[in-house]
Amino acid sequence: MEEKKKKHKPINRKLLRRFMKGTWGYFIIAAIALIAAVLSAYIIPIITSFTIDYVLIPYAEEGYKAGDSGVPGFIINWIDSIGGREFLIKHLYIMGIALLLFTAVNAMSTFLRRSYIAYAGESMARNMRNDLYEHLANLPFDYHKHVSTGDLVQRCTSDVDTVRRFIQNQLLEIARTVLMVVCAAVIMLRMNPMLTLWSVIMMPFLALSSFVYFKAVKDSFSDADEAEGKLSAALQENLTGVRVVRAFGQQKRELDNFTEKNADFRKKNLRVNNLMAYYWSASDAFGYMQIMLALCVGVYYAIKGWISVGELLVFTSYTAMLTWPVRQLGRILADLGKASVSLGRIDEIISAPLETEPGKALTPPITGDIEFRHVGFRYEDSVDPVLDDVSFTVKHGQTIAILGSTGSGKTSLVQLIQRLYTATEGEILLDGVNINDYERHYLRRNIGIVLQEPFLYSRTIMENIRIVDPDAPEEKVYEAARIASIHDVVKAFENGYDTVVGERGVTLSGGQKQRVAIARMLMQEAPIIILDDSMSAVDTETDAAIREALSGRRQNCTTFIISHRITTLSTADKILVLEHGRLVQQGTHEELIKVDGLYKRIADIQNMLEGELGSEGGEA
Ligand code: UTP
Ligand code: MG
Repeated sequence: MEEKKKKHKPINRKLLRRFMKGTWGYFIIAAIALIAAVLSAYIIPIITSFTIDYVLIPYAEEGYKAGDSGVPGFIINWIDSIGGREFLIKHLYIMGIALLLFTAVNAMSTFLRRSYIAYAGESMARNMRNDLYEHLANLPFDYHKHVSTGDLVQRCTSDVDTVRRFIQNQLLEIARTVLMVVCAAVIMLRMNPMLTLWSVIMMPFLALSSFVYFKAVKDSFSDADEAEGKLSAALQENLTGVRVVRAFGQQKRELDNFTEKNADFRKKNLRVNNLMAYYWSASDAFGYMQIMLALCVGVYYAIKGWISVGELLVFTSYTAMLTWPVRQLGRILADLGKASVSLGRIDEIISAPLETEPGKALTPPITGDIEFRHVGFRYEDSVDPVLDDVSFTVKHGQTIAILGSTGSGKTSLVQLIQRLYTATEGEILLDGVNINDYERHYLRRNIGIVLQEPFLYSRTIMENIRIVDPDAPEEKVYEAARIASIHDVVKAFENGYDTVVGERGVTLSGGQKQRVAIARMLMQEAPIIILDDSMSAVDTETDAAIREALSGRRQNCTTFIISHRITTLSTADKILVLEHGRLVQQGTHEELIKVDGLYKRIADIQNMLEGELGSEGGEA
């Protein structure tokens, strides 16, 4: 049902106008060039026929009355005034020059039409992509949960391309066809209305069959598109999950899967190509029948003396010129359908509501005192609350550690501080001001976060660390990297800081990736730092070294550390223990170690393990 609704969505004109901003000039030039091209194309047969009727035949045949072959009276009068037929016979090259001239006009205007419509289409596509990208960048964080990346990429690339192709190849084609039919009708009717009728009698059938045919094969076209989509999705998934595929020895299965989709795509594409071959050949035959009809009837008319030989030439030329655009009409309509579906898909992104600024958009200096007051939160699609009645306070410069089993809501809690999501109950205060009242970009700039699964760009390590401030001096980068205990590691790489990080951080180990992400966060010099389990892949000693190095900075920063390591947690000024979204314990290490609870249990287990490891090490 959803599909159906999409297909019948009318074209959003406002959106189209928005994309066309700045491209009107190109469209106008292309339209003028189009008119010039059509007119010159129609003049060329007239020059030939005029040469036959006015110059050639009267010269060859005694008593043959010179015809005008559709040349306007004032031009005939002018030719007569400069010496008429005799003059032209002596200077026959003039007719050749006239032919050349109009052919040149035709070639030039065809060139202009094509290049300017290309400018128009490409500029529109650029506008579309920019608008889409900008919109996507400002959509709420939540939006991306409901849509697949592959689908978004497709909308920003293939759908934009479908619309562009329609603009470039088809839009003017409609205007051209209409213009051609009108011009041909005017000229032909003036010469002989009856023969005009014979020359176009099959055209409506040709147009109609084109509509019917393209409507009938529409499904085959969309089947082929769908098969292509599936093929690229399979490819994308395979490349993204390359590690999993290899690790689980799935190459053969994945290859089979890919081969199957590939074969399916070939089959469906072949079908489309076959259907098109049938159509073009059948309509070719149909078109030639029309030309043949015009020729036969025309010859009869010429023998009867109802039209001149030159006029016969005009009729047959025009009939041939008209068949191609007419049999294309159905295809244009089919493409119009496709383009409007694509535009609808683009529209869906553009009309998704942007992230709003619910409060006063303040940008005061931030010190970093944070207070949670009875904060509750649930994700849009979840039934149970993820956080429930969470209250605590942190003074600036303090370090706050969060412990909790997986799924207990730790990540959700820190994401609320960044306002990636908004608390559904209670309020979060930063320096006594509700965080909703801060300007969101300003708020986020002042909170440095290292995500649980850090994402690195496929650029150099230097560029990755400098991402927030590309002009930062290298010394500053080294300093941040030293604190994150990654400087020496990077220096030891063959290309040092110029080592290109592979897509999704391939080429770096898990722990190295985390540390690069920490260095990147430090460059932000934010008064609030959040480390979401950011040292899980770093060994305990390096973890301690990083925390030690960080502590110099931490005095001016409020730091949130999510961790499962008691050694990390124990140094914090305050420890929060979360269980199923509820804050079950809070206090310092000394306080929590004394009471029964999750913290003590985990501390005991980790101490026991340490002890065992220690004694094993001792024995060896
Ligand atoms: P969290 O992601 O906050 O858990 O999800 P956590 O404490 O950080 O867990 P670990 O230690 O990293 O593994 C809390 C709950 O919210 C749900 C999850 O299913 C989980 O039960 N959740 C999370 C959603 O419903 N939607 C999301 O987008 C993310
Ligand atoms: Mg988490």
